[in-house]
Amino acid sequence: MKDTYYWFGEDRTPSNDPKKRYVACYSSQDLVHWKFRNQVLKQSDPDHLGNWILERPKVFYNKVSKVSHKFVMYMHLDGPGYKLARVAIAVSDQVDGDYTYVRSFRPLDHESRDIGQFIDDDGAAYLIFKSRPTGGFFIGKLSDDYMSVEREASFVHAPLEGGALVHYQGLYYLIGSHLTGWAPNPNVYATAKSLEGPWTEFKDIAPPETKTYSSQSSMLIKVIGEKATTVIYVGDRWKPKALWDSRYIWMPLEIGGGATILPEPKPWSLDVRSGKSSILSAK
Ligand code: GAL
Repeated sequence: MKDTYYWFGEDRTPSNDPKKRYVACYSSQDLVHWKFRNQVLKQSDPDHLGNWILERPKVFYNKVSKVSHKFVMYMHLDGPGYKLARVAIAVSDQVDGDYTYVRSFRPLDHESRDIGQFIDDDGAAYLIFKSRPTGGFFIGKLSDDYMSVEREASFVHAPLEGGALVHYQGLYYLIGSHLTGWAPNPNVYATAKSLEGPWTEFKDIAPPETKTYSSQSSMLIKVIGEKATTVIYVGDRWKPKALWDSRYIWMPLEIGGGATILPEPKPWSLDVRSGKSSILSAK
């Protein structure tokens, strides 16, 4: 549906079948009020992995009319101890329909753990994936049908994960977290004029002692309105002992001129029509 946002995430509801892995989909018109749509993926162990892992689902919408599938979901697929390091894909013709599992692979033959999603202003779709042996992460361009990662657009030589990217006023801003598992750490950002780089040195996005206000980078949402553009930082607040109950921080970034800062989380308001956001100051 036009003018509707869809949000996909790991669904770890305790009553789910423990052998399966689930992805849930929600929708919103204003990015504030969300409606549960469907458990769009209810997947049994695809590769006899045993205690298997499905994380960070991302759905790409393919606007090209002659592709076989309109919606392609990428997921981090792993086995015990995170040794498999692959992506899996599933497809659907309806955004919130039941997705059908297709296959798993290593993008560009690299290990792939945390994944991120990026759509450039020209509509080109990219998968961000972290690859431990290389000491960095890749921004890989998807093929026209989105069913594979076609070429390396950028290799960022920094041992980071949770990669999230936005193009804002002519610059690419890339945010990532250090490698501390479920525990938060000081997330950092770099910029580049072109996706291919070169990327600047990484700097903190928030006072390091706050550990990114107890969150880990996940997505950057660019809301382009009639009057302004707001870039929202979406960070996971994992609860390792109750993962199903993990929460998020959504905060508008201070961004521009090659710098970005995540302000201290406070109530704020957003008008998706105008694109304006404001932090609500307590009276
Ligand atoms: C995090 C990662 C999560 C999950 C976790 C496991 O760093 O971002 O998606 O993989 O590690 O420890």
